[in-house]
Amino acid sequence: MMVRIFSKPQVLIWAFLFGILWCVYPAERVFSQQSATYVGSKVCMECHETEYTKFSTYAKKASSYEHIRKMQRGLTAEEFQGCFECHTTGYGKPGGFKSEKQTPNLKNVGCESCHGPGSLHAKSEDSEDIKGKLTAADCETCHNKERVEAFSYKPLVYGGAH
Ligand code: HEC
Ligand code: HEC
Ligand code: HEC
Ligand code: HEC
Repeated sequence: MMVRIFSKPQVLIWAFLFGILWCVYPAERVFSQQSATYVGSKVCMECHETEYTKFSTYAKKASSYEHIRKMQRGLTAEEFQGCFECHTTGYGKPGGFKSEKQTPNLKNVGCESCHGPGSLHAKSEDSEDIKGKLTAADCETCHNKERVEAFSYKPLVYGGAH
């Protein structure tokens, strides 16, 4: 029986069907959201030059690490680390900022701080793989209540980006 199931033509047919499945459902798709990691704003530049240029020219976020480093002297190492959450990209998250040495491409707040980790999207170029629509909640992780008395969504959600 076993010999018959795996006779030569049938093996070829199964291999063919599996091949088609593999093309329709690439592994990346299947594991989509979980495996997206941070790649840094420079990678986005290749295809989004306009946004990148505006962002790096006008947004203070693009030099947010410089701003905390200027104040590093007066801080303990622990206090300095406390700044990373809001002044770098993806700190404390998988594939996010670790240190200036290990992850120089993520040291400033970047595209992925608002749009989420972009490794999958940068490969697929599919808008399904990146967060395109944003709400005030996406800003409030950093622009939280203690920092800003009233951070109103409408006028501000389009500010500070590109
Ligand atoms: C290799 C090219 C390429 C790279 C690299 C790339 N993108 Fe895109 N991106 C695209 C294309 C193409 C679209 C338009 C897709 C569409 O219209 O369906 C797009 C669309 C988007 C959108 C709009 C999504 C929506 O819902 O409308 C956002 C936001 C975005 N990209 C952010 C990023 C960020 C952040 C990075 C870096 C992590 C990045 N992209 C890297 C090609 C790229
Ligand atoms: C990862 C944390 C983080 C997120 C998320 C975030 N911001 Fe910011 N934002 C900052 C930091 C840090 C600064 C100050 C940068 C500096 O000057 O060092 C800043 C500065 C700003 C400024 C000041 C003006 C300027 O030129 O940059 C505006 C406006 C702003 N953010 C709007 C937004 C909006 C709107 C959102 C959501 C769509 C958002 N931010 C999401 C961290 C964040
Ligand atoms: C909870 C998020 C958060 C943390 C933590 C945080 N910041 Fe910020 N920081 C911001 C935001 C948001 C801004 C933009 C202005 C504002 O809303 O106050 C900012 C602005 C600044 C600015 C002004 C830069 C400029 O000139 O535009 C400096 C300097 C700064 N932060 C230093 C620090 C230092 C140093 C630490 C750590 C001790 C730190 N921040 C921790 C969110 C944060
Ligand atoms: C402060 C948060 C923030 C940062 C940082 C940011 N964006 Fe955006 N981005 C937005 C918002 C808000 C929209 C408009 C979303 C909507 O229409 O709801 C947007 C829209 C987009 C779009 C869709 C087309 C458009 O322009 O409306 C692209 C592409 C994009 N961003 C790419 C980038 C790239 C590349 C970077 C880094 C260079 C970046 N973004 C950094 C907040 C941000």
